[in-house]
Order: sequence, then C-alpha cells, then structure tokens
Amino acid sequence: MREATGTARLFHRLSTILLTFLLVPRLVGARPYPVHWADDNNGRQRISLNEGWKFSRFTSNPDSLSYDSLKSWILPSANNFIKGDKHQPPSGTPPGSNVQYVQPDFDDRDWESVDLPHDWAIKGPFNAPGVSGGMGRLPSNGVGWYRRTLTRSPEDEDKSIFLDIDGAMSYAAVWLNGRLIGGWPYGYASFRLDLTPYLDGGDNLLAIRLENALDNSRWYPGAGIYRNVWLVKVNPTHVGQYGTYITTSDVSEEKATVHLTVDVENGGASDTTVDVVTEIHLLDPATGTPGEEVVAQFEKATVAVPAGGKMSVSGSTAVRNPLLWGPPPEQEPNLYVATTRLTVNGTVIDTYETPFGIRSVTFDANQGVSVNGKPVKIWGTCNHGDLGSLGTALNTRALERQLEALREMGSNALRTSHNPPAPEFLDLADRMGFLVLDEIFDTWADRKTTNDFHAIFPDWHEPDLRAFVRRDRNHPSIIAWSYGNEIPNQSGSATGATAQALHGILVEEDPTRPSTCAMNSAGPGSPLADALDIIGLNYQGEGLGTSTDGSFDRFHAAYPGKVVWSSESASALSTRGTYLFPVTSGNHADVGDGPGQGGDGRDYRVSAYELYATSWGSSPDKVFAAHDAHPYVAGEFVWTGWDYLGEPTPYDGDDGARSSYFGIIDLAGFRKDRFYLYQARWRPDLPMAHLLPHWTWPDRVGQVTPVHVFSSGDEAELFVNGKSAGRQKRGRGQYRFRWDDVVYQPGNVSVVVYKDGEEWARDARWTVGKAKGLTLTADRAEIRGDGRDLSFVTVAVVDENGDTVPEAGNAIAFSVSGPGRIVATDNGDPADMTEFPSLTRKAFSGLALAIVRADKGASGDITVTASAEGLETAEVVIRAA
Ligand code: GAL
Repeated sequence: MREATGTARLFHRLSTILLTFLLVPRLVGARPYPVHWADDNNGRQRISLNEGWKFSRFTSNPDSLSYDSLKSWILPSANNFIKGDKHQPPSGTPPGSNVQYVQPDFDDRDWESVDLPHDWAIKGPFNAPGVSGGMGRLPSNGVGWYRRTLTRSPEDEDKSIFLDIDGAMSYAAVWLNGRLIGGWPYGYASFRLDLTPYLDGGDNLLAIRLENALDNSRWYPGAGIYRNVWLVKVNPTHVGQYGTYITTSDVSEEKATVHLTVDVENGGASDTTVDVVTEIHLLDPATGTPGEEVVAQFEKATVAVPAGGKMSVSGSTAVRNPLLWGPPPEQEPNLYVATTRLTVNGTVIDTYETPFGIRSVTFDANQGVSVNGKPVKIWGTCNHGDLGSLGTALNTRALERQLEALREMGSNALRTSHNPPAPEFLDLADRMGFLVLDEIFDTWADRKTTNDFHAIFPDWHEPDLRAFVRRDRNHPSIIAWSYGNEIPNQSGSATGATAQALHGILVEEDPTRPSTCAMNSAGPGSPLADALDIIGLNYQGEGLGTSTDGSFDRFHAAYPGKVVWSSESASALSTRGTYLFPVTSGNHADVGDGPGQGGDGRDYRVSAYELYATSWGSSPDKVFAAHDAHPYVAGEFVWTGWDYLGEPTPYDGDDGARSSYFGIIDLAGFRKDRFYLYQARWRPDLPMAHLLPHWTWPDRVGQVTPVHVFSSGDEAELFVNGKSAGRQKRGRGQYRFRWDDVVYQPGNVSVVVYKDGEEWARDARWTVGKAKGLTLTADRAEIRGDGRDLSFVTVAVVDENGDTVPEAGNAIAFSVSGPGRIVATDNGDPADMTEFPSLTRKAFSGLALAIVRADKGASGDITVTASAEGLETAEVVIRAA
C-alpha cells in the first residue's frame, strides 16, 4: 500500500476545487465512469445496446398477452433478490412463442426505427384519450414492442452474456429467439437477464414487450425503454451483478478503513479457483478515469467457486490521508475507484470497477446530519425523473443541467421522489457532491391509483427493494434510504408491520445507512413512525396550509433519539413571470382560482409573488419560519426543484394543464422568482438581490403594484422612479422585503440592499418598449458530436434596447442548418398543449427554449435560427466537435 504524495494530493485538491466551482458547466457530459468496462483486455465488455431497434406501439392489446399470463415465467428473474424459496419456472413451452412479434422472420420494416433511451409518449399529442391530467395527458398507455438482432460471434461462444436494462416502463417481458426468458414489472427498476443459455451462434432475435395501463401513476411515468441497455460479456467466472459492496469506517483526514465484499459467480460447467485482487485509485475528477497511483490494496484472496455457484470474499484495508467525499461548498466530493481483478493462474479473467467515496455520515436528533463530523443543514429538493420536454428518456447532459441549476441555487440534497433514479443520476450526485435520499416506493399493498405498484407489491417488494439497494449502495452521495411516500392507511397496524418488514430487508442489505418513509398523516406513536430510523415529515411538520400547528415538536419529543426532517415541504405553486393582483398580505395563502387568490383559471396561471401553495402545503416563507423556530429539524426537501410532467395542480381537471406548477425552476429550465428566495437563504454569503414583479404594466398606471425583494442582505431601500419608497430591516421570521403599497407609474424601480450596514447588492426593473427582435443564447457553444450531447438555446423577445419584453407571447419558428437537430422546444408554460417536438413555439413571459443535439459523428457548425412575425430574426452557432 502506498500513500498519495503531498504534491499529488495538493494537485488533486486544487483540481477538485476548480472542478466544483468553476469548470462544472464546461465538463458537462464528462465521460461516465467506470471507463474500463468496454475494454476487452480486462476480461469484461459492457457494450451499449441502444442503437438499431424497431418499435411499435398499440393502443389495444395486439397479442392477447398480459402480465398475469406471463407472471410465472417472469418471477424467476427475481430469484437473486429473494431470500426464501426461489421461484421455479413452470414446465412446458413459455407463453408468447406463437406471437408474431417474437419470431425472427416477422417483417418489422414498417415499424419505427428508434435508438434508446426512448420515451414513446413524449412526442404527444396531448390530450391522449383516457390519460388524466395527473399523468400529463400524454399517450403513455398501451403495449409497446421493441425488436432487435443480437449477433453472437464465435469468440463469444464460451462467454456468459447478460442483458442489463437500466429501466423499461413497464411490465417488461423479454423473448430471445421466440422464447420468453424473463422480465421485470416495476418500470423504475434496473434488471439483468442471463441470455447465455438461449443464445445461438450468429443472429438472435431479441423482442421486448412493455405494457402501461391507464391510471398507473400520479405523475407522468414515461413509456418505453427509457434508460440505457447494455450487453455484458464476461468469463463464466466473473464478478456478479452489483457484485461489490464497499463501506468505510473510522473515517478521518488521517486515515480511513475501507471494507469490501466481492461476489464471484461461476456460470460455467466446472469448478474454478480464482484469485481476487482489488486496488484503490483516486478518480480524476476531470476525466472520470482512475489515477495511476495505487493508494491502497486489499490482500489477495483465493476462492474456489463451484460450477453454477457463487462465493463471496471480504477484506479491509486502510487508506492514509484519504481525500474525503463531502458536499460543497465546505467540502469536496472526492472519489476513489476500487478495481477488482479476478485471475486464474495469473491470467486476468475479469476486471470490475467500483467508484466510491470515503466519508462518514452521522445523524443526531438535535444536530441533524453531519458529514465527516461537520454539520450540514439539508437544503434539498424532491424531483421526479422526467427531463421536461425530453420526457423520461435518459439524457445525462439534461440531468446534469438540472443539478447544476439546483447547485447554483445553493441546494445540497436531492430526494428521488418516489422511485429509483437512473444510475447516471447517482453518478452525477456523487461527482457534484449532492446528498441523496434514495426513495423506492410511492405505494405498498394499498393503492393510490387503480394500476399502481400495489398490484405487484406482494410478489415484488422484496426483490425490488433488495435489487435497488444492491445497485445503489456504493454511492457515497446516498445518505439514507426511503422506502415509502405517504403510504395509504398510514397510521394502521398493517402499515407498521409492512414498514418493519421492509426496514428489516434494508438492514440486511445495507446496515450502514438509516432509512425512512415520508409521513403526511401518521403521528408520533403510530406503528409506522415507530419503525422509522429518521422521522420524515411531509408538510405536517410546519403545519398544513394556513395552519401553523405543526408536528415537529410532537415528533421530537416522542422520538428523542431520531432525526426529524421535512421529507417534503412547500408544494408552493407559480408560473414564471405571472403576477396576479391583489397580492395576499400574509406570508402564505392557500391557492384559489380568482382575484386575490393567486390563481387564474382562464389561462391556467398561478402568481409568481411566491406566496401561494396547495391547501396542504406552505409558502417557502412559512416553511423557513417553522424551520428557524425548530433548529433541531435537519432540513427540508422542497416539493419540487424542477417542474415536472403531470400533476398540474391546481389545474389538473378535465380541461386543464399538463405539467406542474410546483417547481422552483420551470419545465424549460427557466428560473422562477422563487429560485432567488431559496438562493437568498441557502447561499447567505452570496451578495444577491432579486426584485419582482417586472415593471411594464400599461394597464396598471396608478394602481397598487407591490414590490418584493429576495436577498441575502438584511436591510433594503426601494426607489421608485428615483424616489425612496422606504428603507426596511428584515426581522426575525421575515424572508423577503416587501413594499406592498407602491403605485405603478412607468419608469423604473430599484433596490439597494445592505448587510451589516454595508452595501451588499442591487437590482432593478424598468419599463421596456415594444417587441422588436429576438436574441438567442446557447448554454454551451460547443457540444460533442456523439448523438447525445445537448445545447439548450434560450430565445428572448426583446425591445430596441435588448431588454426582454416580460409578457411577450410571440409565436417563434426555429430552424437548424448543419449537422444537428432540434429535439424539443418548450417555454415553461404548464398549459401549453403544443407538442414538444414542434419547431414553432410561443414565447411564454418573453422566453422560449430549443434543445439542440448534434448528430452522431458530427463535426462543424450547427446554426440555429429563430424568427417571429414582425420581429428581427436571430441566429446562434453551436460547434459540434
Ligand atoms: C405530496 C406527494 C407528492 C406530490 C405533492 C404535491 O403529498 O407526496 O408526490 O403529489 O403532494 O403537492
């Protein structure tokens, strides 16, 4: 074992700091690690199977199959994740072998050619028959078939070959050469099927059937094979699926102990004895590749693995002067990689890389969460997995953009509400230093919607939960597991018993992390609360809606040893750039439809004064006040960081909107005013001030138009057309400056903010002129020509001075020349029913978005043009390299 040298440590530390604070936007889409898996010299190949699929969707069942008819053949796919009796496949021919779509000679030339990740519903149209507003009004229902050829070459004859599907929505059933070989119903889960016994030499036909019922979710679930798919080729004796488990203990800046278990599987016909060696390297933050230097290694273990069997080896090693993983800005998210090699008589037969971090996380009922001994207040957001106008089809750059915006706001934590995220989400969280509450279920045995997970809970909760933890437990970002959200019949004894059973599974799979559920109604002393390691409160902590009778103290008193946090807070609502009058004088109001109530049902908008919330939620200001009054509360996960598809409360009725109003950031990625309310609190050291509303109100001359300012300063003076409207100090329990009786006159309104008596920040709005032209801004001027990387291009409708016209809604037409295309457009309006792939899009509150992707193998300039009737056209060039 060797230590990193002082210079190497210093260099690494500097480069990590640079990476974290300066370079993140430029490193976007950096190579995912581990990087060696596609390298055959190491005995393992992990090959993307994303390209070259044929696809067809059917709104009525085309094949008479159903999960019920396939179930007995699918259940054995769960066997590695079941502790008790394994499922035995029935004898006889599995079902579906006579279905035409599984036949190699079926003519699928008329089917759509698609590459994965693929969300069949996102292209619309909206108002799909039978699909609720809650589910986003997009055609996610129906049966989808995917077909593809797999070729096994002679050199792969002796290999074990697996199909790894990171996520398929839902009820996946897989046929190889006409034979049903398994599947996995939960659409958010990742799963593996062993193809080895069924593969022929040469071409093989892989056919995958998915089925989504109506009413299977409370949000937009997406549809299709929406995450990556891999073919894994290994020696029959190899490190198994999720075959390493790394934990750390005795963590300090001087030393840490790393513990490792390696599962070795032997799918071959003869017993094999292998040497297992694991080395630890630092991961280079810039490239995601392991450093040359071996910073520690585990003692070699020799293990005899019987044919068809599995053996585990465990060991520990010390790392001196470890570079710890922790959340910025106080800490750095340093990562290591454990490289495990299996050798037989000195020949490497498998190499398996496990990125991990060295950190300690402690939970204290009064201090909250500490990472490496340093208290960290949880400033988190909940998010669903969709990527707005891109749907649920995984795109790492789009995910990264979401996390970058949250980081800019000062957020340090993420809750994966309410299902397992894409593996890439956790890689990003590791790399960027977010703390993650990894959540798996929204329902157990009792349903929330007719066709949700309750239908398969009895058979699948155990394998889903075990597979989820084994997949994710090496991620240093994960600080706790959540195994339920607002479970129906929450206070009942049956719920408590289920919680205990699920808790038991979690402790078996990962004894190092606590677990929780999100409770919105169960009280202290309920069997559910008793079963939890962490008290997760949705809304009830601060008091539902206008109530200020919150439950923090009651839970804290009942469970003096347990951390309490807001697993979900706020559920505040707004549409970006919408200001409705009059404005409530309180610090919170339940949203309603009509003047003074925050909502306007004529065009489905909610006011962005950021004071309105659902009847169960609270404005951010109200949540902050409750948290400050209860300093032992470990923090909050706001509902939600980003707007998401579906659940368009308060306009989820029959003729309403299609995406949420909850986000701090809108669906297109534009910051709502709320962003700055959180930033003011979460980045107290950042000099910033944000003034609202805009100041172009031809119809409001002479009318009271309140001005509010969000700032990290403590005192502020407002000027209206140069005249002071008063200087205010922000008192305890106040989170905004507000001048509620300003009378609008055209001109300007500006604020000077102070902190500790010194000037701290300024902001201003002024009356802008008529729309004259457009401007285009690309978030990245250069992207990789790999068919995946994206540039997000913002178009603004501007006046003759280049100022955005705040309420502009001009119809914009986009076009592209060069080696790229616009994959989606959006504007952040939850009620815009124009399909996402449309190349025309109305601006909303002055802005719209076009998402540009370079073609695979592209290099050169992609020119994006935006035009609108009566306005000057704009152009931006993006270089593909
Ligand atoms: C919560 C629920 C979330 C979302 C939210 C909207 O009760 O856990 O999934 O529905 O309400 O306010």
